[in-house]
Amino acid sequence: MGMEGLLSPRVLCLLLWVQLCRGFVQLVGGDSPCSGRVEVHNGKTVCDSDFGPKAAEVVCRELQCGTALSVPGAARFGEGVGPMWDRELQCAGNESLLISCPRGSPRDQPCTHANAVGVTCAQYTGFRLVNGSTACEGRVEVQVLGTWGTLCASRWDLLDAHVLCRHLDCGFAESIPRGGHFGSGTGPVWRDSFHCEGTEAHLGQCPVTALGASPCSPENHAAVICSGHEAELSLCNTSLPESAAAAGIAEDVGVVCAGSRQVRLVKGPGCYAGRVEIYYQGSWGTVCDDGWDLSDAAIVCQQLGCGGAVEAVGSARFGEGSGQLWLDGVNCSGTEAALWDCPAGSWGQHDCAHKEDAGVVCSDFMALRLGNGSNCSGRLQVFYNGTWGSVCSNSMTLQTVSLACKELGCGDAGTLETRLPSGRVSGHTWLDRVECGERNSSFWQCPSAPWDPRSCDDLREETHITCSGRRPETALAVGTVCPNSTSCTDREKIRAVGGESGCSGRVEVWQRGSWGTVCDDSWDMQDAEVACRQLGCGPAVSALDEAAFGEGTGPIWLEQVECRGSEPSLQACWARPGDSGACRHKEDAAVQCSGDFVAAIQCIKEAYEKMERDFLPGPVVVGQEATVLK
Ligand SMILES: *[C@@H]1O[C@H](CO)[C@@H](O)[C@H](O)[C@H]1NC(C)=O
Ligand SMILES: *[C@@H]1O[C@H](CO)[C@@H](O)[C@H](O)[C@H]1NC(C)=O
Ligand SMILES: *[C@@H]1O[C@H](CO)[C@@H](O)[C@H](O)[C@H]1NC(C)=O
Ligand SMILES: *[C@@H]1O[C@H](CO)[C@@H](O)[C@H](O)[C@H]1NC(C)=O
Repeated sequence: MGMEGLLSPRVLCLLLWVQLCRGFVQLVGGDSPCSGRVEVHNGKTVCDSDFGPKAAEVVCRELQCGTALSVPGAARFGEGVGPMWDRELQCAGNESLLISCPRGSPRDQPCTHANAVGVTCAQYTGFRLVNGSTACEGRVEVQVLGTWGTLCASRWDLLDAHVLCRHLDCGFAESIPRGGHFGSGTGPVWRDSFHCEGTEAHLGQCPVTALGASPCSPENHAAVICSGHEAELSLCNTSLPESAAAAGIAEDVGVVCAGSRQVRLVKGPGCYAGRVEIYYQGSWGTVCDDGWDLSDAAIVCQQLGCGGAVEAVGSARFGEGSGQLWLDGVNCSGTEAALWDCPAGSWGQHDCAHKEDAGVVCSDFMALRLGNGSNCSGRLQVFYNGTWGSVCSNSMTLQTVSLACKELGCGDAGTLETRLPSGRVSGHTWLDRVECGERNSSFWQCPSAPWDPRSCDDLREETHITCSGRRPETALAVGTVCPNSTSCTDREKIRAVGGESGCSGRVEVWQRGSWGTVCDDSWDMQDAEVACRQLGCGPAVSALDEAAFGEGTGPIWLEQVECRGSEPSLQACWARPGDSGACRHKEDAAVQCSGDFVAAIQCIKEAYEKMERDFLPGPVVVGQEATVLK
């Protein structure tokens, strides 16, 4: 066998990238990817004496986790198992990748796993309640990258408040007083909206949006009165504390307790659009579309804190659910606090099938796409209040463009187009002055001017971008776009989740109205070849098992996939349906495809430059061949 076949420069580069650059550092053993024990270079534990606050800053930046909050040593996040990393990481603090940091010489004193270093990264570095008569009530102040400020209450609700109360060891939220009850602070006012489900450990774990938020009046600062810590124990009992019942929050409190009623939609960046699902008597079920209209949809949106309803969707346009059909003939008047308070047939009584499942689109539901363009290049458009509109380019920076590309699944870098047409824009122009900063890890968190359908009126002001990656999947399902529509191609019924560019990750396929995973039983290179081809990501580099890119949720659609390698799609390969229950998500299959090449080149270039700096002292004469790499 010739060497070329085995180690083409392309495959070699890619392997180098996978081994050295991507995933050089990981945080493990914490409660999120942004907190845990530091592991570098395939799982080597790092000693606390070799790793300082500057290295921690680089790690948090590389992992897109904000800033370093603490760097605990002494195995705070548990001890590792593998070998120890044996030299100091001497970062300046401004590197983009930990692998770029200079390293000291090997240590002569041994270091043990008991000295394993950890890092906790966060953009929110503190939460507190001020100006209340007890420690468990007051105005909500949030510390962002070291600066305390007051939180605006525009989307502050009881679920968010519960999370804060519990985090502060103050029980649950009894009420969220409005009207500047606890005065106003002197610091900045954060317009971040938290979208908590009520079960998160702290607000920093809830999805956050800030895009398009309106200025905050002093009467609109977030506040909460918590029950106090002793009330916590009785919270999930059927006999709720008197105060909780009186405050009318029994339903909301229920979210943190098993066995109560809940409502959910398919997750968006913060607010939602999707099939309505209700949790009742221990199982999730759907709602029939008979008589389903905007006033019913409005109750759902309001209940979720997602504004008004822009569309009541029927005929399982967001896919067919499974299990119970809980409600039929829902006829809300508009004053109800929850969907189940509306007049309707009794629970589980219906003459419907899942093909009639109801859905909603809420006004605060947001999505991003590139209009008028091909693949990962075009006019940046945002979906809000039921309408697509463009984004003005005032104050647009590369940081903002890169977060937009990331959100679109088009790689993590891009450029702003400069050759633009002139003339007037038609349609909505939703956003102006989107200013993403270092503290933002998603496009939706970036501050901007408030939503306004007339944000810019000249075509030259519209944002057109070109991203470095390729698009792995159609943007979030709005209306009948793929993969919901019956006219979708196989290409649109697969995605790679958890990688950076959409060309590697956990393999998920679309079936019967939802995304599900593939079991790793007999998952091999032939199967990966087919998946990579279907993804449009070139040849496969590796077939990975045991949830290498994390565990999925939802159904496991395929088990024991047996592709020959030449099939056009995974769906065309022989496989067992995954509903036998034989597999679990810890066996989710994943792929790495060669389409990650663009990112690989960038990393290798950085590594090469660093090697040149470190190992070739004195003036360097770079030959023709070498310059090619630069
Ligand atoms: C506390 O709240 C009161 C009103 O309830 C207000 O007069 C006072 O200025 C507030 N103090 C601070 C520090 O915000
Ligand atoms: C709920 O309260 C009842 C009576 O007050 C008690 O017997 C029961 O153990 C409690 N259940 C839980 C889960 O705390
Ligand atoms: C819905 O409720 C209204 C009263 O709020 C009533 O007039 C109407 O007939 C009801 N519709 C159905 C289909 O039951
Ligand atoms: C959203 O749409 C509704 C109804 O179409 C309209 O009344 C409201 O003003 C819109 N909101 C914005 C911010 O444009």
